[in-house]
Amino acid sequence: MPSLKPIDFADIFGTTLDHLSEATLKAIAAENWNYRVLEGAERDAIVLDLLKRIESRRLTLVQNEDKSRWERGWGENLDDFEKSGGKLEALQPKYIRPGMPVRLFRQFVQPEDPNFESNWYSIYRAWFVNKHLAAYDNIFEFGCGSGFNVAYVAQQFPKAHVVGLDWATPSVDIVEGLRAKHGFNVAGRRFDFFHPDESLDMPMGSAIFTVGALEQTGTQWEKFLDFIMRKKPACCFHIEPIYEWYDHEHSLVDYTAWKAHEVRNFWRGFPGKILELEKHGRARILKTKRINFGSLVVEGYSQLFWQPL
Ligand SMILES: C[S@@+](CC[C@H](N)C(=O)[O-])C[C@H]1O[C@@H](n2cnc3c(N)ncnc32)[C@H](O)[C@@H]1O
Repeated sequence: MPSLKPIDFADIFGTTLDHLSEATLKAIAAENWNYRVLEGAERDAIVLDLLKRIESRRLTLVQNEDKSRWERGWGENLDDFEKSGGKLEALQPKYIRPGMPVRLFRQFVQPEDPNFESNWYSIYRAWFVNKHLAAYDNIFEFGCGSGFNVAYVAQQFPKAHVVGLDWATPSVDIVEGLRAKHGFNVAGRRFDFFHPDESLDMPMGSAIFTVGALEQTGTQWEKFLDFIMRKKPACCFHIEPIYEWYDHEHSLVDYTAWKAHEVRNFWRGFPGKILELEKHGRARILKTKRINFGSLVVEGYSQLFWQPL
C-alpha cells in the first residue's frame, strides 16, 4: 500500500528533505500515512458525484457577503471553548471531515487513518509557521476562524504579538478568550475583506498570513489588496486554494476542483494581479507552490508568498 514518506512531505511543501527539521520528521514518523489510490468504478463514483453537486450547486457557496454561516460555525466553537474552560481542542474546525477521500498528487485517494488530512495539516502548519513566521514581532492572521492557528503561532512565539482578524464576531471573541484564559500575547479584531478597516495599526516589518480565508472573496479581493498595498507589511503568506494552478485541461481530478471553485465563487484572479504588480515594480513574489494535496472538493493549501513594495 502506498504511503506518504518524508520526501513526499518535502516535495508537497516545496522544499527538500534536508530542510525538514528533526521535529517535522518525528511528527511524520508518529502517524499512519498509508492510502489507497481510488481507481475504476470507485473513482468514477467520486467524479460523478462531484460533477452532479457542481451542476446542481449542492456545494457551500460564497455569496452576497453573507457571514451567517461563519457566525454559526465559529459560535459553536466559541461555546465549546467557553464550556470547556478554554480548552484549545475546542478550536478544531469542523470543516476538515474525518474519513473522507482526499486529493493527492492529482488523484483521489482513500487514507487508512480517518484523521489523515488534519494530521497532515498539523505538520504542514508547524513547518510553515516555524520556517516563515519566526522572524516577526507582529503577525496578523486575516480570516482567523476558530483561532486555532492564532493559538498555535502564539504558543510558538510568545514574544510576538499575534492579531487574529475575522468578520465573524465569535472568532474575535475566541481570540480575546485566548488572551484572557491562557495569557497569550494575542488580540482579536473585527475585519471585513470587502470593507477593510483603515484604522488597523500594522507596525513596520509585520507579517500577515491567511489560510483558506481569501478563498472566500471570489473576485472581490481588490479592496483588500489595495489595503495591503497601503499598509505595506514586510511579507504576505497566503495558504489558499488557487484556481489558476489546476491543470483542468488535462486532468479530470483537477477539472472537478476547478469547476467547483467557479461554482462556489472562490478566489480567482489574485495571482495574476500580483504578477502584474511585480512587473510594475510594486510587488516581489517570493514563492508560488501548488501543493498537490487537498480535500475532496478543492486543493486548499497552496502557497503564494509575496511582498508589497
Ligand atoms: C475556511 S475558514 C478558514 C479559517 C481559518 N483561517 C482556518 O485556517 O481554519 C474562512 C474564514 O474566512 C472568514 N471570512 C470569510 N469572508 C470574510 C470577509 N469578507 N472578511 C473577513 N473574514 C472573512 C470566515 O469567517 C472564516 O473564518
